[in-house]
Amino acid sequence: MYCLAVLLVVLTLTHAKKSPCFVFPGETFLEFRPANFNNSHMVHYQLEFQTIAEEGILMYSEGPDDYEALFLSQGKLIYLLTNPSPSGVEGTSGGLYVSEAQVNNDTWFKVDLWRNWEKRGRGGHRGTVLQTGMEIRDPSKNSLETHIDHINHRGVLLDPVVYVGGIKSSLTHTQGTAPPQFEGRIRRIHEQRNDDAFEHYSLNFDNKVKRC
Ligand SMILES: *[C@@H]1O[C@H](CO)[C@@H](O)[C@H](O)[C@H]1NC(C)=O
Ligand SMILES: *[C@@H]1O[C@H](CO)[C@@H](O)[C@H](O)[C@H]1NC(C)=O
Repeated sequence: MYCLAVLLVVLTLTHAKKSPCFVFPGETFLEFRPANFNNSHMVHYQLEFQTIAEEGILMYSEGPDDYEALFLSQGKLIYLLTNPSPSGVEGTSGGLYVSEAQVNNDTWFKVDLWRNWEKRGRGGHRGTVLQTGMEIRDPSKNSLETHIDHINHRGVLLDPVVYVGGIKSSLTHTQGTAPPQFEGRIRRIHEQRNDDAFEHYSLNFDNKVKRC
């Protein structure tokens, strides 16, 4: 009996550690600077969110020229990757992935976000295919929507800093154009390439983000 109780506590703590959940009041953000984190070229993020807000930033990273953002606009979920070529001559190889459904109905949605993710070819295919985009799931359904391309989004260079729930006003690529800070809940953020669970933020701006 005692052992079982201890085991349950340990399991609960392990579970809590692996799946942090944050409440965002809509006026602030978390900044993560995970150790040994490389988010250039390829990543695979997973997260879950719940909101009734129509607009708001879920995730954002930027580099010298490039940036990527996962955000809500008019209740739809959007993944935007902007990747201008350094010379500006060859154009850009960014992407825009927009949900058809509105996702601000207070349901917990699961999101997978891939950028240049190497997927093993299936069946007769040899080698790997790259995939970029997002998949949105409603737990009561199997897969809600998939928006993916197989373009090589070459040369995406980002600083190893991830903003969650909003962004710092001084960031260079978004001045005056960014959606507002997110109001709602975000949990179970994970990045597969670096196996990082986003447990420890480097900044909780104004200390306004709470655990849920
Ligand atoms: C990050 O990964 C890319 C390849 O995916 C590599 O070219 C780059 O050198 C890495 N950056 C660092 C700082 O290790
Ligand atoms: C919330 O919206 C999603 C996407 O349109 C839909 O699949 C789901 O059934 C909705 N849930 C509720 C409780 O309305």
